[in-house]
Amino acid sequence: MGMTATETRSTEPQIGRRRFLAWLSGLGIAGSAALGSLATFFFIRPRTTYGQPNRFKIGRPDEFPSGSRIAIDPKRVCIVREGNKVAAISTTCTHLGCIIAPSATGFQCPCHGSRFDVDGNVTGGPAPKALAWYAVTLTPSGELEVDKDNEIQTGTYLSV
Ligand code: FES
Repeated sequence: MGMTATETRSTEPQIGRRRFLAWLSGLGIAGSAALGSLATFFFIRPRTTYGQPNRFKIGRPDEFPSGSRIAIDPKRVCIVREGNKVAAISTTCTHLGCIIAPSATGFQCPCHGSRFDVDGNVTGGPAPKALAWYAVTLTPSGELEVDKDNEIQTGTYLSV
């Protein structure tokens, strides 16, 4: 009887410990599954500006000579200057989000060959819609500022 009581006392904490370890490893598996899906979520979530603000300055108008189409890849915009008019066109492909580059006829996507005219309208490939145009304003300090949260109608330029 005394032996049994001793055995009981010595095995109970053992079982408790096993259960606790099993619970811990279950928690570990659930935890890593949760972390994994969180990582997947952040990986596949389109982040158009690499975490940078959607409103940013790009320099003074005279840094963009007339006739130039200058792509700023980290910001995913192309600054277009024609005479005294300036515009910011998205360089994120409307197919699967690759960064497109200005070409002789407009824009070209290196991923699946979508093509766009100089205004960003689709002229070929799988892209389902035109490239976005973003509002450009002149700050009091004389710098151009692009606001990617403010999509405007294709062909709307800022006069500088
Ligand atoms: S991502 Fe541009 S064509 Fe597919």
